[in-house]
Amino acid sequence: MARPLVAEINLAALRHNYQLALNQSPTSTALAVVKANAYGHGAVEVALALVHLAPAFAVACIEEAEQLRAAGITQPIVLIEGFFEASELPTIITQNYQPLLHSQWQVEQLVNYLANVCNADQPMLGTGLELWLKVDTGMHRLGFTSEEAAKVYQQLKALPVINKITLTSHLACADDLTNSVTKDQLQQLQALQQQLDCPISIANSPATLGWPAAQQGYLRPGIMLYGASPFSASHALADQLQPVMTLKSKLISVKTLAANESVGYGARFTTTEPTPIGVVACGYGDGYPRQALEGTPIKVNGIICKLAGRVSMDMLTVDLTNCPEAQVGDEVILWGEGLAVNEVASHCDTISYTLLTCLLPRVKRIYLNKPRA
Ligand SMILES: Cc1ncc(COP(=O)(O)O)c(C=O)c1O
Repeated sequence: MARPLVAEINLAALRHNYQLALNQSPTSTALAVVKANAYGHGAVEVALALVHLAPAFAVACIEEAEQLRAAGITQPIVLIEGFFEASELPTIITQNYQPLLHSQWQVEQLVNYLANVCNADQPMLGTGLELWLKVDTGMHRLGFTSEEAAKVYQQLKALPVINKITLTSHLACADDLTNSVTKDQLQQLQALQQQLDCPISIANSPATLGWPAAQQGYLRPGIMLYGASPFSASHALADQLQPVMTLKSKLISVKTLAANESVGYGARFTTTEPTPIGVVACGYGDGYPRQALEGTPIKVNGIICKLAGRVSMDMLTVDLTNCPEAQVGDEVILWGEGLAVNEVASHCDTISYTLLTCLLPRVKRIYLNKPRA
């Protein structure tokens, strides 16, 4: 028998979630953010499942883009951190990747490179280069100030090989629907857009679902595609998301411990009465967080039970008091269908993003509802 831990990836749910993003703004379109191996779901399978819906994909680096091209994805691919060194530029141009520019050094290297390419009269630019220009509207991570961005925009726009420049920015606080930082960020980007009269992209998942003023141009949904709400509280639209990944395993041992017995490393959990304890094939060596607190929910045979004791590398232990009939071989859901990854994350002092992206390669991904070839 193979180790029973698998991540089932429901591609029909992924398409539903993408459609929900699109529905928020009929005049917009949505890049599918598939960086970090599509938040742990498998970038190639996810992109192939969206290939007839998404006009473009967004990744963090050229290596991630190349994986998609190698799998036959022909859509434009946006590199949301741009290039890290000038040696990437020939590939970016021949492969129709769309780099984001966030710093002056990138602008200089691109302009120099394009000057050389054009002088040599090489036909590699095809229909022209599409760029994204990042404006720092308040996140203070990457990007130009509005004044700098306006100058860089004019400089680049003057180059005949540049076909289109999309202004973009990233929202720092959009998951808090009352936070005025988001309003300020939106106003800044929109003022610049009006000045330059160019396309725009600002909406991540929380803005796609909760900030109508951000729903224009290119939406950039990430976490919502994978079915996790970007909000900590219930939200009418986010509650319509469907979980894409269900992390499933089985009980590999069940025993009843007497009162005052402890379980696992550090003897962190001690029984107060005779207690059935199940051992599940899943641990931090698979990406399940070791910091999970006592009582983190775990579904056994459809019933919510509680983590009991520290998570080990390959196993974790669950208090089966709520499910006393459970036996070896019974199904365990760690997160996903019927147990929101956000709910698990909240017991692990983390967020759904890290649980999903930190799931390690040794967990086999099984794809359900693949599109017909
Ligand atoms: C620039 C950029 N756009 C969009 C996204 C997608 O964000 P979310 O997953 O919150 O939708 C990210 C994610 O980190 C990002 O860095």
